[in-house]
Amino acid sequence: MKVFIATSIVIIICFIFIFVGFELNNENNSLTYDYEQEDLSNQIVINFSHVVAENTPKGLAAQKFAKLTERKTNGKVKVAVFPNGVLYAEGEEVDALIRGEVQMIAPAYSNMSELIPEWLILDLPYIFKDYEHVEAVLNGEVGKALLEKLQKHNIKGVAFWSNGFKQMTSNRNPLRKPSDFLGQRFRIMPSKALEDQFRMLGVRTNAMPFNQVYPNLENRFLDGQENTISNIYSKGFYKVQKYMTISNHGYLGYAVMMNQEFWDSLPEDLQQKIQEAMDETTDWLFSESIAINQQQLELIKSSSDIQIYELTDEERQQWIDFFQPLYEEYGERYGEKWIQEIQKLEPNGIKDKRD
Ligand code: LMR
Repeated sequence: MKVFIATSIVIIICFIFIFVGFELNNENNSLTYDYEQEDLSNQIVINFSHVVAENTPKGLAAQKFAKLTERKTNGKVKVAVFPNGVLYAEGEEVDALIRGEVQMIAPAYSNMSELIPEWLILDLPYIFKDYEHVEAVLNGEVGKALLEKLQKHNIKGVAFWSNGFKQMTSNRNPLRKPSDFLGQRFRIMPSKALEDQFRMLGVRTNAMPFNQVYPNLENRFLDGQENTISNIYSKGFYKVQKYMTISNHGYLGYAVMMNQEFWDSLPEDLQQKIQEAMDETTDWLFSESIAINQQQLELIKSSSDIQIYELTDEERQQWIDFFQPLYEEYGERYGEKWIQEIQKLEPNGIKDKRD
């Protein structure tokens, strides 16, 4: 009997050892190695702050740029995108970039005119004839010269991104001719040229940050605003406005910028890969932004009661003539050269034969 009990104990102990050994072995096998953590301490992170929604031209471009950069640098560079102004509001972004608190931003170029007044020219009403003209100007010598001017402010200008042409909306009345604006209050992006455009129309302006526009349209502090279809759609402005005029009077483009010191600290091969990712994104965005604005105009039409009016060619010419004095004023103040350079560019980037 004793022998039986002793044998049983030995067998049970053996089973326990075998079982525990098996489990330990299993546990070791299931400890998967996290390759993503490898070299994480050497990874370079670009924090990229912007103020619009993710389903907008800029929001989508930011995500595409992040993916391309990570792929092209084999994960050595990560782009962390912060949309919707969660890090900085519109008016705070440029200072945050200069101080190096973020590495990358892409504000509307209107935001740059306080730092470099020549940028105001891009906000003159009807300075751009059409999309091809926009591309020729921003990707040509004028765009290059404007980006270079950023360097003395510790900013590396990397590209111009596109959104689209701006349209006018109001709660008061349809906007067909310049006198229809008289006495209204509009929100503008911070730019002296936009302020002057509306001053000529007899409109009071508030240069408030983008994320404050909707509540102020809703509570009727503002009568109207100007923006692209994609911004009007993604922020729901069309839900709190009665009238929209397809005026295509101004262009919303973005200055894509990095902190210069940060850029200079990157190894040359990574700078090249990042610039490649940027160029690919910029090309893609140019046609994509046109498509997004067109699709979202259809969505606004099919899902709201806002009354949409498209300017006729004659009405458009009336607006162009109305704003002509602004060109003379800005030519004198900021140099004829810039305006002439832009006006001389044919859509394909060749000098206009009329001069
Ligand atoms: C605005 O303030 O309306 C725009 O700058 C927003 C944006 O970045 O598109």
